[in-house]
Amino acid sequence: MEQVLSGEGKRVCVTGASGYIASWIVKLLLERGYIVNATVRRLDDPAKTEHLLALDGAENRLHLFEADLLKEGSFDPAIHGCHAVEHTDTPVTNDTVINETWFSTPESCKGKKGESYIISKILAEDAAWKFAKEHAIDMVSINPAAVIGPLLQPTINVTTMYFVYNLIKGSETYPNGTCGWVHVNDVAEAHIRAFEIPSANGRYILSETVAHFSDIVKVLHELYPSLKLPNRCEDDNPPKPIYMLSKDKAKSLGIEYVPLKTALWETVECLKEKFMINV
Ligand SMILES: NC(=O)c1ccc[n+]([C@@H]2O[C@H](COP(=O)([O-])OP(=O)(O)OC[C@H]3O[C@@H](n4cnc5c(N)ncnc54)[C@H](OP(=O)(O)O)[C@@H]3O)[C@@H](O)[C@H]2O)c1
Repeated sequence: MEQVLSGEGKRVCVTGASGYIASWIVKLLLERGYIVNATVRRLDDPAKTEHLLALDGAENRLHLFEADLLKEGSFDPAIHGCHAVEHTDTPVTNDTVINETWFSTPESCKGKKGESYIISKILAEDAAWKFAKEHAIDMVSINPAAVIGPLLQPTINVTTMYFVYNLIKGSETYPNGTCGWVHVNDVAEAHIRAFEIPSANGRYILSETVAHFSDIVKVLHELYPSLKLPNRCEDDNPPKPIYMLSKDKAKSLGIEYVPLKTALWETVECLKEKFMINV
């Protein structure tokens, strides 16, 4: 693998920095010595900023900016002078690293809950690629599977709620769904390596494993035998089939995936601590 550049003195912008994945990107960037320009929607909301300001290195190298995707030009001050931009929400201009979704294949989502969300993400990524090409922007897109692992932010994000919290909080059924699963630290690491490694290019799918929700329930049962977990599927349809996601391209970023079982354990332990869940 090519030599990884040091972050010392380099400035990187992270948009939507208070979010689940972005908070981890900020954490890892600060650990590597980068200066971080982090955007949040509301600077006056401590729930969006305090966990970032508490990170190691934040005191000297974290700069918070207010920016909203719906306000044209609001990202300009945060992006100015940056070596790279880690954009973790809907694609906008001037971005070099785009994060997109890979919950499932579009085909398997047709007519299902979340279809419009998934299609909007695909269209957004297409638009970002088109814009990057037209403006000669060096863009890489990171497409994580279902992201799990500890939360840095104080509030629970939608996907952690759906993928893990609902299962351990007394839901009677589990979804009839199959998706790839990946640890949030691996996702953040890939976002950084995508600009640190000069040859990184194109799209990277990140998934440690692909599993149906019934498999997730089984792993949770092994980890927490006394936990009341859903014991039936939400519908009587055949279980959604397992599909394959190639790991080859992500390997070129040097990602050593955290195993699913460890990722689930860390997620539940974090939920116990932060949201006082009795497990
Ligand atoms: N988590 C997953 O399993 C997963 C998997 C694949 C792809 N993704 C994608 O990865 C990205 C980040 O996911 P996440 O789980 O980290 O989500 P998240 O925790 O909900 O974070 C999203 C962030 O975007 C910000 N945001 C929303 N609307 C905005 C706007 N109009 N202007 C500026 N900022 C805005 C939010 O700010 P506020 O806090 O102020 O609302 C929040 O900080 C999303 O694009 C998601 O679709 C996530």
